[in-house]
Amino acid sequence: MGLKVAFTYNLKRKPGNRGLPDDYYSEFDSKETIEAIANGLRSGGNEVFLVEADKGLLNWFQNNKVDIVFNIAEGINGESRESQVPAVLDFLGIPYTGSGVLALGVSLNKTLTKKLFEHAGIPTPKYRLITDPAVISDEGLRYPLIAKPNSEGSGKGITMSSVVRNKAELTREVEKTSRVYQQETLVEEFIDGKELTVGILGNYPPAVMPILEIDFSNCKTSGEFFYTWKVKEFEKEVEESKGLSPHWYCPARLSETEAKIIGETALKAFHTIGCVDLSRVDIMLGKDGVPYVLEVNPLPGLDPVDSNFPYIAKCAGMDYGNLMNRILEVAVERHNKNKSLALQERSSR
Ligand SMILES: Nc1ncnc2c1ncn2[C@@H]1O[C@H](COP(=O)(O)OP(=O)(O)OP(=O)(O)O)[C@@H](O)[C@H]1O
Ligand SMILES: [Mg+2]
Repeated sequence: MGLKVAFTYNLKRKPGNRGLPDDYYSEFDSKETIEAIANGLRSGGNEVFLVEADKGLLNWFQNNKVDIVFNIAEGINGESRESQVPAVLDFLGIPYTGSGVLALGVSLNKTLTKKLFEHAGIPTPKYRLITDPAVISDEGLRYPLIAKPNSEGSGKGITMSSVVRNKAELTREVEKTSRVYQQETLVEEFIDGKELTVGILGNYPPAVMPILEIDFSNCKTSGEFFYTWKVKEFEKEVEESKGLSPHWYCPARLSETEAKIIGETALKAFHTIGCVDLSRVDIMLGKDGVPYVLEVNPLPGLDPVDSNFPYIAKCAGMDYGNLMNRILEVAVERHNKNKSLALQERSSR
């Protein structure tokens, strides 16, 4: 496209021996992913400037002029950390790819997201938010339950022991979330069914890409039977015998009617949260046939080897470089449209 593109990211580091949990930096991106994205954008004829989203961010943008920002930064600290880079860019009036401050802030809070789903009539597992580990209630919920940090992603804090069968186990997990992740615990009914994730790309209208099914039936060696942090972290890096490599089916093994309903549900979730450009919607299709939406990921992982979103795009016929440039293109198109709407409004006053 021949644009000057700043690419904002947070670089993954090793937790080392500072007492941090193994999954501490899991949301951040590896050097390989960062290089792959930059090269992908360059293959579209763009000039790319790598900008690590640290404390120097504001300064960098005050001193450099670009056409647009390709943003994958997860942010640092705080309950709305994914909104930090978009907030700075909005403040400076610089366009960027992906969802804005509000959608990123809401989606990082799983309970808030679920409240909006309920309001919009989108099915989501029954839940409770536990704000105080000294006051744990499982009232109205049917075991097994899953206990998750309320504001994390990339499987952080999600292990086999997160699935609990009684109140004693639940108490143990809530205490762990509070101690290790220093946040509230979302407790949900555990849905036994098919794990699906839906990639959405574009705006006028957003397109649902082929649905991806993640099948854990060949993970018997490890016993990991759902998308835990361990599976997410190692699935494409270890040999299959380790039992951490679920099989990906894309398109998912669904009837036409099921696929249609799931696509529509994912789109509804995308719009309810106010996403733009791209997102991945995680859904458990229950044995009761209900597509329970777990969450929306407006900053889906873009690791060329092991992230779901690029794989989905590949199944839709888009190679990695094409996908990066398509994300840029849909964002440019959206900004141009918003700009011309604003101009029209001003001239009609
Ligand atoms: N209520 C539930 N019922 C069944 N499985 C669940 C439920 N909640 C979470 N899981 C399992 O745990 C995985 C991770 O949960 P979730 O998507 O909420 O976490 P995350 O860390 O935000 O994920 P992501 O990597 O997509 O950001 C799901 O993909 C699914 O395998
Ligand atoms: Mg998820």
